[in-house]
Amino acid sequence: MNTPIYDFLKSYNSSGDLRLHMPGHKGKDQIPLSFGLDITEIHGADSLFDADGIIRESEKNAAALFGSKATLYSAGGSTLCIQTMLSIAKRDGREVIALRSVHRSFIAACVLLGIEPVWSYPRYCAGILSGTVDMEDLEKKLKASHRPCVYITSPDYLGKMADIKTIAQLTHKYSGILIVDNAHGAHFAGTDQHPIKQGADMCCDSAHKMLPCLTGGAYLHIGNEQFIPGAKHEMSLFASTSPSYLIMMSLDLCNDYIHNKLPYDRERLIPLLSELRKKISTGYKVYEGDPFHLTLLCNGLWLAQQLRQRGIECEYADRFCIVLLLSPLNDFGDIERLENALLRDITLPSHSDMADELILREAERVMTLRDAALSPYEMIPVEKSSGRICAGVDVPCPPAVPIAVCGEKINSHMIKIFQRYGILTVNVVK
Ligand SMILES: Cc1ncc(COP(=O)(O)O)c(C=O)c1O
Repeated sequence: MNTPIYDFLKSYNSSGDLRLHMPGHKGKDQIPLSFGLDITEIHGADSLFDADGIIRESEKNAAALFGSKATLYSAGGSTLCIQTMLSIAKRDGREVIALRSVHRSFIAACVLLGIEPVWSYPRYCAGILSGTVDMEDLEKKLKASHRPCVYITSPDYLGKMADIKTIAQLTHKYSGILIVDNAHGAHFAGTDQHPIKQGADMCCDSAHKMLPCLTGGAYLHIGNEQFIPGAKHEMSLFASTSPSYLIMMSLDLCNDYIHNKLPYDRERLIPLLSELRKKISTGYKVYEGDPFHLTLLCNGLWLAQQLRQRGIECEYADRFCIVLLLSPLNDFGDIERLENALLRDITLPSHSDMADELILREAERVMTLRDAALSPYEMIPVEKSSGRICAGVDVPCPPAVPIAVCGEKINSHMIKIFQRYGILTVNVVK
């Protein structure tokens, strides 16, 4: 039998390509991996959802590092943490007010839980993928809600950071709770920039995206003690009953990395990255945000191709931007290689014309999110979808920010955005 996955992985691993994409370990071995380390809940190995032994001890180490009241391990990425946090919020009788530039994992969790979020539309800065919180709108929605839960993504896919501290203060002023999707921000561990230190009640960090952790490893941090009892139970509703010990071990080792190496790696790399930004901003439009998310506003598809020909693989590209995702595991040589490619080898790409129309406007909801997502559906060409009800949780473009959310009526403005992102088909309710 052929082994197409293994063959691809072996070939990519031996290619020597510079990985400017997830996972954060960048292909650099942390320890030798072996099947011998892959076990399940045998005697002495503890049990993730009923932890009182080695897993509990390791989770406590993580909580101490991040300054949380409790930290839970997830072997199902931030996706599982988002399901858990929203389930806790729902059980607490909260109304979820979410910044619209959410990842699809949020939408899927809402479908599973029957949550109908109130949207706050951001002030968009780079197409639909990134924007800043409209604080006036957020306050209006907080005032109108009886028992609010604010849900913010920061850093977003392009690296834009929200002012979590101010948002937390505002949310708490209206007796709300704040959940932060910090999937892209695990590298803020131990700094004041981490959402838990900024006042979030709960947040998730995909350790695997930004730190040396196997794919699927994430932390769910709880900053508000009231949500600790029952949190494991909530997570077990959605998770596999066989969480991977390799992933949990990887989170355990990640704690050691955070404690012993991360501060030095950050100190070493951040000045280099800021120097790189300065140099390349002579020719490229560089998007402001987290230093490890190097986002350039240009024809990303063209630039990704140029970089690929030079052995550099990006995280994401579309017609308007490219995301080159670094992590504290990158070294001086990696940055030099990228700088040489961008400034010496490649002719400068044309700037993107991020048109005003690439902004999501308030949509008309005609069905609940859950009902639409669970209805019979059909896939139709985008240009024929005007007036139909969106049924798809899956968003064709990789950053997975929904242009239309299930239950919303598709309009001509949305169709324009689908087309600008090169999306040709859409799932609609039959
Ligand atoms: C903003 C954001 N949130 C959540 C997720 C889901 O994280 P995970 O892949 O760890 O499940 C992603 C994945 O890319 C993401 O980009």
